[in-house]
Amino acid sequence: MMTGADEIVIDEHIQVHRFVLNDLLTNGFVVQATDTGSLVIIDPGDRADDLIAAAEARGGDVRWILVTHLHGDHWAALAEVVNALGAPVVGPPDAPFKVDRAVIGGEDLHFAAHNIHVSATPGHSPESVSYHIDGHVFVGDFLFRLGSGRTDGGDASTEALLATVREVFPGLPDETTLWCGHGPPSTVGEERRGNPFWKIALEGDPPTPVDEVVYRGTTVPVIAWADDYDGGRKALLELGDGGRVIVPSSQVERP
Ligand SMILES: [Fe+2]
Repeated sequence: MMTGADEIVIDEHIQVHRFVLNDLLTNGFVVQATDTGSLVIIDPGDRADDLIAAAEARGGDVRWILVTHLHGDHWAALAEVVNALGAPVVGPPDAPFKVDRAVIGGEDLHFAAHNIHVSATPGHSPESVSYHIDGHVFVGDFLFRLGSGRTDGGDASTEALLATVREVFPGLPDETTLWCGHGPPSTVGEERRGNPFWKIALEGDPPTPVDEVVYRGTTVPVIAWADDYDGGRKALLELGDGGRVIVPSSQVERP
């Protein structure tokens, strides 16, 4: 199992322990309030024993277990973590697991002396939410650093993802840390300045496509390329029906 690249980031408000959970480099988090020691766990997709041990080593006062979206690599170890730590589960409605507090965006959760604000961040999947805690936002697969989650899943929507960029993030300070569902974290400022898909969302399409590729047997224009967390790239494609899709470079070929 891939277990490298765990990291701990500490600021005056919270401590974030990022666990790289699996070969997909899915991130799970143990987050601790610096003042009270209270904890939340986010996206327990694997390595239950390590998440539980980290929470117990930090005093075990777990207030919530938060799930960003319903793809299995973000919650597959949830039952084990709940059994060991007993905290209530927060996540999207209609989940294939027991949710104690269903959220769709707009809610606020008490977290000791802190607040957890929930934003709807659809696109990669319709039920995706992000959790804001003291200048840190846990965004699931809405964003990968300077790129994006894919939007070629059955109920994904590129337009919803681009609208989320316009609606949720302009109000946040540049120094806000964005913890992605896969790969390293970023900041709002870094994404605003350097994310090719955010540029499209905020400024509109470039005057001409930057490339063309073959996708599902048809040659289509590429509106933007971005780097991906796994060393590949992601492409924002214009499809013949006027729709758009964000796909990994492994899904396209040279014409
Ligand atoms: Fe996902």
